[in-house]
Amino acid sequence: MLVLGLETSCDETGVALYDSERGLLADALFSQIDLHRAYGGVVPELASRDHVKRMLPLIRQVLDEAGCVATDIDAIAYTAGPGLVGALLVGASCAQALAFAWDIPAIGVHHMEGHLLAPMLEPAPPAFPFVALLVSGGHTQLVRVDGIGQYQLLGESLDDAAGEAFDKTAKLMGLRYPGGPEIARLAERGTPGRFVFPRPMTDRPGLDFSFSGLKTFTLNTWQQCQSSGDDSEQTRCDVALAFQQAVVETLTIKCRRALKQTGLSSLVIAGGVSANRALRTSLEDMTAALKGNVFYARPAFCTDNGAMIAYAGCQRLLAGQHEELAISVQARWPMEQLPAL
Ligand code: KG4
Ligand code: ZN
Repeated sequence: MLVLGLETSCDETGVALYDSERGLLADALFSQIDLHRAYGGVVPELASRDHVKRMLPLIRQVLDEAGCVATDIDAIAYTAGPGLVGALLVGASCAQALAFAWDIPAIGVHHMEGHLLAPMLEPAPPAFPFVALLVSGGHTQLVRVDGIGQYQLLGESLDDAAGEAFDKTAKLMGLRYPGGPEIARLAERGTPGRFVFPRPMTDRPGLDFSFSGLKTFTLNTWQQCQSSGDDSEQTRCDVALAFQQAVVETLTIKCRRALKQTGLSSLVIAGGVSANRALRTSLEDMTAALKGNVFYARPAFCTDNGAMIAYAGCQRLLAGQHEELAISVQARWPMEQLPAL
């Protein structure tokens, strides 16, 4: 089955062709980062308009790259939520219109299920069951995964998501959007141990997270440095490192807890923050000490992309699921509501 995947939940237009027999045939992405950078974050109206502009040229591009024609496509998968409603509607309308014109089925995919399954596109994919740490701009969740659609939420952020904490902290420190990669870049040159920030909610039991206090702590530290005349590039790097280490260690402590609590040995990390090298290394060390394994996607498939949507949609389509001919998206959508395969 050849599936066209469309991702438009936020600020990236992602299009891919995934074949259930041959694997991923083509993948194309247009990132709107430059468009939103001037505003310090995503402007929903601009995002929607740009998705409209990019969608059809990207579809043509993946067809050319894969050496396919439109009539080869068996079904279309699109992101139906969670995300920005206007942006989601672009992908949903385009998918349903093409599905109607080509007389093929369409399926709405849950964006976080897409992220969760992205490591399945790698050469050594994880096997069920596993614990998944979903860390994106909008979500921080620990989930027990027993199969596609068999999700048990173990813990989540009570306030900011991990990616959101990176982005907001970076903005407070005068860094560019998106802040995750910026902080990671500065942290590489940071002095270990110069600042040590709190590891929120690790001193009590449970698997929930809270990152908003850490963001304020980082801002206060940075402002104190500035007011004492020490706002050098090195100090910025040292603060960035302390912040990143606090996030990474907090996530690692909770992942270790989740593995122990469930008795599972495989950990999957997915979503934009799973591209963070320090996080990957820390989770690799932790799982190795437990004689377990950690799985993640290549960096381009950690952040938003069409390949994960094509893959997740394909699995559900193969199981006989598809959508009515209606354009419906959801800004909020708990992943536990998804049907099991
Ligand atoms: O999954 P994603 O592309 O979009 C959402 O579904 O939200 O995640 C984007 C988030 C942003 O907050 C971005 O700053 C963060 O992932 N991010 C990173 C890194 N690369 C992207 N955070 C930390 N380190 C990175 N290397
Ligand atoms: Zn995402």
